[in-house]
Amino acid sequence: MNGREQWASKLGFILAAVGSAVGLGNIWRFSYVAGESGGAAFLLIYVICIFLIGLPVLLAEFTIGRKGQTDVIAAFTSKAPGKPWVLGGFFGLAASFFILSFYGVIAGWVLYYIYSYFTGTAGAVEEGGYGDFFESFIGSSGGPIFWQVLFMAIVIGIVYFGVKKGIELSNKIFMPLLAVILLFLAGFSLTLDGASEGLQFLFSPEWSAFGDAEVWSAAVGQAFFTLSLGMGAMITYSSYLSKDNRLPSAAGTVVVLDTLFAIVAGLVIFPAVFSFGIDPGDGPGLIFVTLPEVFNLMGGGGTVFAIFFFILVALAALSSAISLLEVSVAFVMRKFNWARKQAALVVGLLITAVGIPSALSQGGPLTEATIAGLPFLDFVDTLTDMYFLPLGGLMIALFVGWGWRREDAFRESDLTGSSIAPLWIWFLRIVAPLGILWILYLNVVNTPFFQ
Ligand code: PHE
Repeated sequence: MNGREQWASKLGFILAAVGSAVGLGNIWRFSYVAGESGGAAFLLIYVICIFLIGLPVLLAEFTIGRKGQTDVIAAFTSKAPGKPWVLGGFFGLAASFFILSFYGVIAGWVLYYIYSYFTGTAGAVEEGGYGDFFESFIGSSGGPIFWQVLFMAIVIGIVYFGVKKGIELSNKIFMPLLAVILLFLAGFSLTLDGASEGLQFLFSPEWSAFGDAEVWSAAVGQAFFTLSLGMGAMITYSSYLSKDNRLPSAAGTVVVLDTLFAIVAGLVIFPAVFSFGIDPGDGPGLIFVTLPEVFNLMGGGGTVFAIFFFILVALAALSSAISLLEVSVAFVMRKFNWARKQAALVVGLLITAVGIPSALSQGGPLTEATIAGLPFLDFVDTLTDMYFLPLGGLMIALFVGWGWRREDAFRESDLTGSSIAPLWIWFLRIVAPLGILWILYLNVVNTPFFQ
């Protein structure tokens, strides 16, 4: 592994890992899933899942990555040649590839909104007209592809410059910027009349939701997605780490910051939504239709709020997309012995091309070309979220929990002698796998594929 790239600093790694975790998942996905699943109860269940499953699996990914010092496939095969664990690597590689294909499409929509607010077209839409505004955009062909390609070009450009000069540097700029914009927006949102109703929605749970298996399944899905778990992203990032980092505190920092980010994003969105008497349970259109209605009602300040909001979303998406691309790029560099620049360009273009059917499937020409009854984008999203991520996560938990010698696992995760070490190992061995299996079962029973 001579001359393999490394992070310049510990902080750089943490920021990059937080950048990977904080993304569309924390704003777009978290808000609509929480909105649909009843708010506070979902939030509480989600936090439970984050700590019971997310944190142990994240630490396992960091451990595998730093130990392996290689890409997501070789990280499994070099430690346990000929064993089935490498399946976890394949799920991760496939998931990151396909997730990025549609992630780029949705991030492209975000860029289009920034552009439309800047040029004034989005601000000029009549009250009640944002549904049409959104649908006529995503239903066209050229528009969504143009913005998707632009977004992917930026992602490819950053990965092209490598771990230090591309990924680390961009995250060092983006993360502080994100925090500032987010806090500014939350401050504004909380001063709106009626903001307290939004707070109640987010923080005062309906206890009956705890018995609802679908809320649990949504929460585990969200926990994996938001922490970038089961996709090889965290394995790949931690493979650029040297020994002098403490993994448990790194994992804890990432989990806490990611969760805080989602909660504060909720503080931006729900007070605003409730203050204007709008229903938060409208699904994936929440930030593209519902919120713009809210911005519209805010009057003149609304456009400024909107521009900052969508810039926030775009930056968050960018730092996550970078980590998704890096998974495949690292694999191709090792496997085919390619230079980074070549790998970034070729793999990036390939993923962009695979995303095009997704871009055309939301009202555009490929809407009717469904797979298992779902438009292409929804199919890829469901397949990766509901199956690949949990399966990847399951393999990772079992790999470190059962496939490694205990002492090795403790040493490589910097947990030797710590009182949480045994707890961690049993979470990986039993708690996380059972939780994941249960969710997989629910997904099989509930998903459109098997009806
Ligand atoms: N965690 C990111 C989000 O919340 C998505 C992501 C998943 C990024 C997997 C990288 C890897 O949006």
